[in-house]
Amino acid sequence: MQSKRGRLDRFLATTLQIHRKSVRELLLAKRVLVDGVVAREMDMQIHEFSHIVFDSLILQANTPEYWMLHKPVGVVSATKDDEHKTVIELLDCAARDELHIAGRLDLNSSGLLLLTNDSRWSEALMAPTQKVDKVYRVTLANPLSEDYIAAFAEGMYFGFEDITTQPAKLKILAPHVAEVTLREGKYHQIKRMFGRFRNPVVGLHRLSIGDIFLDNQLSPGESRPLTAKEVASISLC
Ligand code: URA
Repeated sequence: MQSKRGRLDRFLATTLQIHRKSVRELLLAKRVLVDGVVAREMDMQIHEFSHIVFDSLILQANTPEYWMLHKPVGVVSATKDDEHKTVIELLDCAARDELHIAGRLDLNSSGLLLLTNDSRWSEALMAPTQKVDKVYRVTLANPLSEDYIAAFAEGMYFGFEDITTQPAKLKILAPHVAEVTLREGKYHQIKRMFGRFRNPVVGLHRLSIGDIFLDNQLSPGESRPLTAKEVASISLC
């Protein structure tokens, strides 16, 4: 999702359906307040959480929301779906319809899912330059061997996208269970990486994203707002 930062004059022209010339007149007449202060500059930069008032009409008053959900298997990481229940429907948040997903999980994956209405924050979380580790517990149909560790660390070429995956960490926890750490999230990445060994993934559970860990008090389907510390653990680009 693109961030909603931009110029005040564009926002006013679009929201009030007026020409730029009329926007200038409104500003000269001191009829627009941004975060409680009279706005004077046409090119003033605003963002999705700027509080914008025209006369006594509130044009924008969004408050940032940050949530974690324990995603159960069988629920789709989408805002709308005709067939399956969506993660949005599970959220215990009044503003849930304004949220977007910061890093999807497949239908049959479970675990930590983050949702927000702050696109700067979700962009920072997803940006490959930010190097945010995503840790998964993966259960496989067939036993693992040491060969997997080097193959994951080297990266794998995906012809469809013409990319080589970033080095990934694989730790063998049990003959059929691995912990995998990725710094990116290509389409079905983990399943495709194990697919190279013809080893089907039978369980995929996300444990953490950076310093945000799935809260063990949350049962599948339950959610809670992030703490201020969890939100601040993602540094903005
Ligand atoms: N990789 C996958 O294959 N599926 C997920 O849900 C997450 C990572």
